[in-house]
Amino acid sequence: MRTFIKFIQSYAILIFICEVAFGQAHFANERIAGSLGKSIMPIGAYYYPEHWDESEWAEDLEKMADLGFEFTHLGEFAWAKMEPEEGKYEFAWLDKTIELAAANGMKVIMCTPTPTPPAWLTQKHPEILAVDQNYIRQQHGGRLHVIYNHPVYLEYVEKIIVRLAERYGDHPAVAGWQLDNEPHFGQIYDYSEQAQIEFPPWLDRKYGSIDVLNDAWGTAFWSQVYNDFSQIQLPNKVNTPQGANPHALLDFSRFTADRLAEGLKFQADMLRGLISKDQWITTNYAYFKFLPVTDPFRNKNDLDFASHTMYLTSGFLNDEGGNLASRLGSGMELSFSNEFAKSVNGRTGIMELQPGQINWGTINAQPLPGAVRMWVWHAFALGDMFTCAYRFKQPLFGSEQTHKGIIDTDGVSLARGGKEYVQAIKEIGALKINSELEPEELKSRKTAFLWKMDNLIDIENHRHHEDFDPWQFNYLYYNQLKRMGCTVTFLQEDDPFNPNEYPFMVVPAYQITNEALISKWEKYVEAGGNLILTLRTAKKDDNGHLWKAHNQEPIWNLIGARIPEFDQLPAKYPGMVSYENEMHLWHRWGDWLEPMTGTKIWAEYADQFYQGTSAIVHQKLGKGTVTYLGVYTDTGELERQVLRKVFAQNGARILDLPHYVFTEWRNGYWVSLNYSSNIVRAPIHPNAKIIYGKVDLVPGGVTVWKSTDN
Ligand code: GAL
Repeated sequence: MRTFIKFIQSYAILIFICEVAFGQAHFANERIAGSLGKSIMPIGAYYYPEHWDESEWAEDLEKMADLGFEFTHLGEFAWAKMEPEEGKYEFAWLDKTIELAAANGMKVIMCTPTPTPPAWLTQKHPEILAVDQNYIRQQHGGRLHVIYNHPVYLEYVEKIIVRLAERYGDHPAVAGWQLDNEPHFGQIYDYSEQAQIEFPPWLDRKYGSIDVLNDAWGTAFWSQVYNDFSQIQLPNKVNTPQGANPHALLDFSRFTADRLAEGLKFQADMLRGLISKDQWITTNYAYFKFLPVTDPFRNKNDLDFASHTMYLTSGFLNDEGGNLASRLGSGMELSFSNEFAKSVNGRTGIMELQPGQINWGTINAQPLPGAVRMWVWHAFALGDMFTCAYRFKQPLFGSEQTHKGIIDTDGVSLARGGKEYVQAIKEIGALKINSELEPEELKSRKTAFLWKMDNLIDIENHRHHEDFDPWQFNYLYYNQLKRMGCTVTFLQEDDPFNPNEYPFMVVPAYQITNEALISKWEKYVEAGGNLILTLRTAKKDDNGHLWKAHNQEPIWNLIGARIPEFDQLPAKYPGMVSYENEMHLWHRWGDWLEPMTGTKIWAEYADQFYQGTSAIVHQKLGKGTVTYLGVYTDTGELERQVLRKVFAQNGARILDLPHYVFTEWRNGYWVSLNYSSNIVRAPIHPNAKIIYGKVDLVPGGVTVWKSTDN
């Protein structure tokens, strides 16, 4: 007995040491996954009991469990069912559904119903509804159309959350909580009276005096000078067609991001005080691409992790462009979104993953046979703690009635995508999981991707060339990293820049910079890091002003070149840049570089009146290197080759994957996935043992293998 107690004690100490050493993340990941099921990556499905006759619930949940789903997701959007009249709460239906889930051995993710306030609430308080840039107030019947932090709305949010938390806050079947839904997808830029009330004090807190604000916003321009904060209106591009103040727009985005974060923090803090310590809290961010102003890093300390939602075939996302792209979806987006969300707290899961055809995209193609299974495998490969299908049963009414579920419209048959989910559940469930060390190969190419919302906002506010889409520019670099098989972590400026952990750091178009960041880059490079900077980086200070210096002068020494000018061209008359005897076309952006002594010239402009001017330079600095890419090519092929050269020259073992083919490693398994429209070869090691799939990957194919090579 004593030995047993000693064993338990040392085990507890070991866990404590692990938590301290790994900053909780390592321990918490398993705990969160474990709270949702027994599998390495539990898979669940959304269920809306309020959409079905009560007589169907028992059969539905039993079926869900029989198919291998380990948890369900409840409560989202159901405020009118929970509180049909003000102060009259009805939870019997939810109690019953949770009991049915539990009786079938399933866990529950409980969601706060806050994106859809009931009609009695919006009728009584229409002021909680957001107002768009044309000053049109949103109407009851939509969703995510409320002002996230409106004090009146928050009073009601508090009441419903307290009731939910008191009821389910220590329910053994409730594993965790999701706040709201895709908390940015409605009318996030809010032009309501409430926003107008809040903005001037927010500015006052930031600047302290109107004179400081006048300087920061450069209001001497166009006689914009303010005498006091009360004169400041919400900046609106619609009613300043001549050009809104860019510094005011930047601050309005920061203000909007803060308001959203505040609304989420309000819910998280309240829940945290009421629920069991075993229940976790997240929210499900969606499509960072649409609204970078949704900044999950702002809620890093409020939530246990950021989850995200994925509808790969929507047609709004970046895709490979092949003839099967609309059926295979955007693997790049799944990957980017996943690694981005994971970077916030070191862990993530896909809260919603489409199980088949959707109804709200641009085309809504049928997924290629195998695609749904591939998406689930991709979530596994990227290390997700869980994945959840949206949704279990296809709805018979409402605006998503032609959106596929796991189960077809007859309410009982497995849909085509449902069958693929079940297949993936079985396949992943059959893997033997041992603790495996991360392969050296993977460590050698770990990459940090520096990220700040302000850069995307500021460039979007003023693209300078109509074709300069800041997201596409970031995707271009991300995509090339994935083609080399890199694991990408999105870092923030105040994170440690450790070259041992991240031998490579990629910084695309990081326009808004400060001196502290530039010296942090210098230290990173001195200590052995390989820094890859691009055009538009360090053009402005934190207020979005140009430096009182030459163009980008604060980074001239770091990159080993001066950047006196940049150029832009019409798409139909592109320029040429030459790299290693090959020509590449460009038109969106070209910096003129003047290398300093010792700096290597990697690429030069091959035409225009500045023919022979450098476009890409590289230098060694301390123990590391700095590469500066001053040109944005039309195909991205030049960027690909340059990245490969930097990685290969500096000790990285890199893959050479075709466009839209991904390879990840998890728990001892390598997984390759093919989102391209062609048959490709998986990069299997010579002595590898294939577990699933073949060396030749068909479009939508997955190959899983184990290797003894490290
Ligand atoms: C998501 C949303 C879900 C559902 C789904 C349909 O973006 O979070 O509530 O509407 O789309 O595809």
